[in-house]
Amino acid sequence: LGMTFTRHSESRNPMSSDIRRFIRKIPKAELHIHLEGSLEPEMMFAIAERNGVELPFHSVAEVRRAYRFTNLQSFLDIYYEGMSVLLHERDFHDMTVAYLARAHADTVRHAELFFDPQAHTDRGIPLETVIGGIQSAREEMKNRTGMSTRLIPCFLRHLSADSAMASLEEILRFRDLITGVGLDSSEVGNPPEKFTAVFDRARAEGLRVVAHAGEEGPPEYIRQALDLLGSERIDHGVRCIGDPELVERLKKEQIPLTVCPLSNVRLRVFEDMADHDLKQLLDRGLRITLNSDDPAYFGGYITENYLAAQEALNLERDDILTLARNSFLSAFLTTEEKAMYLEELDRFVSRFPHKPREER
Ligand code: ADE
Ligand code: ZN
Repeated sequence: LGMTFTRHSESRNPMSSDIRRFIRKIPKAELHIHLEGSLEPEMMFAIAERNGVELPFHSVAEVRRAYRFTNLQSFLDIYYEGMSVLLHERDFHDMTVAYLARAHADTVRHAELFFDPQAHTDRGIPLETVIGGIQSAREEMKNRTGMSTRLIPCFLRHLSADSAMASLEEILRFRDLITGVGLDSSEVGNPPEKFTAVFDRARAEGLRVVAHAGEEGPPEYIRQALDLLGSERIDHGVRCIGDPELVERLKKEQIPLTVCPLSNVRLRVFEDMADHDLKQLLDRGLRITLNSDDPAYFGGYITENYLAAQEALNLERDDILTLARNSFLSAFLTTEEKAMYLEELDRFVSRFPHKPREER
């Protein structure tokens, strides 16, 4: 099954190619990746064909032309359509292996994987099929690459709280494979408070909690995710900037934000990468991480997100290091695992050629 990767043109000046190499090679963790959003059009077509599923597109080029989004909902409509080709365990396995192989090539050492159980079970795909395929891929790639992974099913917030609660009960049958739960899909009009009881139950089971908030929705949704759901990280969270008191709190409590720059530009949260607020938030001392969200749809995997942000916002080597360090600090890893990855990061930095300023 083929895959194509977006390539950025190598930069003209040597200092900028130095930092680009630093980005490509630095050990990192990815904390915000929807597995279904890593389904490349080539694989979508190959799976559709072997499963006898009809797609509303006739070619890979036609699919890519349809990936012109005006907001979150315009993306979600195509995203749910695309994942409808996934029927069998092997399909979920192949998709997950392809993502992890790509992440490994991007020097990702640890990945926390989102998936949307209700988007599959509501089409009649058993949850065992979904989790079975993802789980065998996690094991295969752990053996092949040493990468660690965690699994985080998300509730679709456009569906009812009752549907989320029923999904949670099903998920709990696989409790030992699951690290936490998340909340995603159409944000505006579906505030976190709608799911308070569901997340109370998840926390009672010892599950970790994250939630998408402040992607398109207001700062108030970020507060609700923290105070009502017990969210330990905020996925996106970039709209906190309109609320100085909230920004201060996120800083003080060092709540990680899993920011996805290419996603934000493609979904028009920011008109241009140069307008993105991540550098401001980083400079304010918030715990910012960079991630890919739905890389098959937004034109790049994690390294491309770092590269695009670096270029548009003039991120420095120390910013990149902080982002990578934050990714491990914010992961649902044990203290020992974090220490191991942070040590690898320190080793990498101390060995990476660092030209003294006057030579540049
Ligand atoms: N599901 C997949 N990607 C998402 C995003 N960026 N926001 C909300 N739900 C999603
Ligand atoms: Zn997301």
